[in-house]
Formats: sequence, structure tokens, C-alpha cells
Amino acid sequence: MSLIITDDGSHSFISSTFGEAYHSRHGAITESQHVFIEAGLIPALATKSDLHLLEIGLGTGLNALLTAIHGIPEQKSIHYTAFEKYPVTLEDATRLNYITNLQAEEWASFFEDLHRCSWDEDANLHEYFTLHKIKADFTTLSVTDKYDLIYMDAFAPNAQSAFWEQPFTDQLAAALKPGGTIVTYCAKGSFKRALKSAGLEVEGLPGPPGKREMTRARKV
Ligand SMILES: C[S@@+](CC[C@H](N)C(=O)[O-])C[C@H]1O[C@@H](n2cnc3c(N)ncnc32)[C@H](O)[C@@H]1O
Repeated sequence: MSLIITDDGSHSFISSTFGEAYHSRHGAITESQHVFIEAGLIPALATKSDLHLLEIGLGTGLNALLTAIHGIPEQKSIHYTAFEKYPVTLEDATRLNYITNLQAEEWASFFEDLHRCSWDEDANLHEYFTLHKIKADFTTLSVTDKYDLIYMDAFAPNAQSAFWEQPFTDQLAAALKPGGTIVTYCAKGSFKRALKSAGLEVEGLPGPPGKREMTRARKV
């Protein structure tokens, strides 16, 4: 796992398994904030007091950290479930500069707890934030559990095509509650068509720096 500095000064890793960066090289925090927090979390929290969120790929925990930083002050209960088959070690996680880059020292112990907590059980990291990390392949996603919001953050289609097409897109759609949304950095045409054929309403939104478009899909 090698550490890189992205254009906004925040770190990311290059996966030794996939040879892919965990985030946009144009800015890891900038991308996460734009795609997952602004297009996903903020609109979802506006209408919910209790949010069930699924992340496809916990990785560095950056999306989870930003979700807590934005969500907890709203005093709404966030139940954050995240799949990850190749966990980042605590040692690697402590190399990441997210806390200093965000000037969020008060979240340092939360970020450490996020990585330290046990897999495959609920961890109450805060009165308003429960994390359930699942150490398993994405394909084992149960469609009987239903979510208000899904952060689709697998590696890009060139590296992991199966997670951007049927049947996995059908599995994601089935895991959404009515009114629930999926957000992702990916705007590939075949992915958007797969979401549409799973019955979702699909919209293209302006992407983060370096990307013209991102995708948000909603179950009506
Ligand atoms: C783009 S990174 C996710 C970045 C992450 N959301 C973050 O905030 O750092 C993709 C993640 O998916 C994980 N992953 C890749 N293939 C997987 C699979 N088949 N099942 C479960 N996790 C997988 C990788 O280990 C990696 O952590």
C-alpha cells in the first residue's frame, strides 16, 4: 500500500492488490466531500431523523469520517454499514493526514476508533453514530437489509467492472428503501443504464475537480 498526496494536500493510498488509487488524484477530501457528503448525505439528512447508510468499500474511512463530522452535529442517528474485504491496517490508517488536513483534532480519536473497532458487529462510536463494518466481499450484500443512502465507492469500472453492471447494480437497487439514493463518482454510460434498468431514476450531476460528471440515482 503506497501513500500519495493528492492535489488538495490530502492523502490517499494506491492499492497493492488493484494498482488503483483509493480517491481522485485531484483531491481525496475534495472528492469525498463533493460526491458523498454534498450530493448524498446532506440532502438525505434534510428529510430523515434516522439514517441507514451503506458504503461499498470502507477503505481509508475517509467517507465515514466526513459523514460523522457533518452528520453528528445534526443530532440525527446515523447507522453506517460498510463492506470491506481488504481492510486498511491501523498502522496504515495512522499515516493518513485527514485529521490535520481538516483541522479537526477533536475527531482524531473517532477516526482511530473507526479503524480499531471490531468487524461484523455494531460499534457505537457516538450517541448519534453506529458503525457496522462487514469484512466480506461486496457480492455477499444482503438485499433484505434496506438503506436510505448508498455510497457506491468500489474501484473504477476498468478495475472492477462486475460491480458497475448487472447483477450487482440490481442488488444495490434492491437494497435501497423507497426514496433512497445511491451516489457515486462514476458516470459511465453503461453503469447509468444498468441503474435505470434496475428501476432507479438516474441523474448526472457536476463532478468534483477533474471529472465532468458524477451520478445520483433514486428509488421512487
Ligand atoms: C475506492 S476504494 C474505497 C475508498 C473509501 N470509500 C475511502 O473513503 O477511503 C475501494 C475499496 O473497496 C475495497 N474492495 C475492493 N474489492 C472489494 C470486494 N470485492 N469486496 C469488498 N471490498 C472490496 C478495497 O479494498 C477498497 O478499500
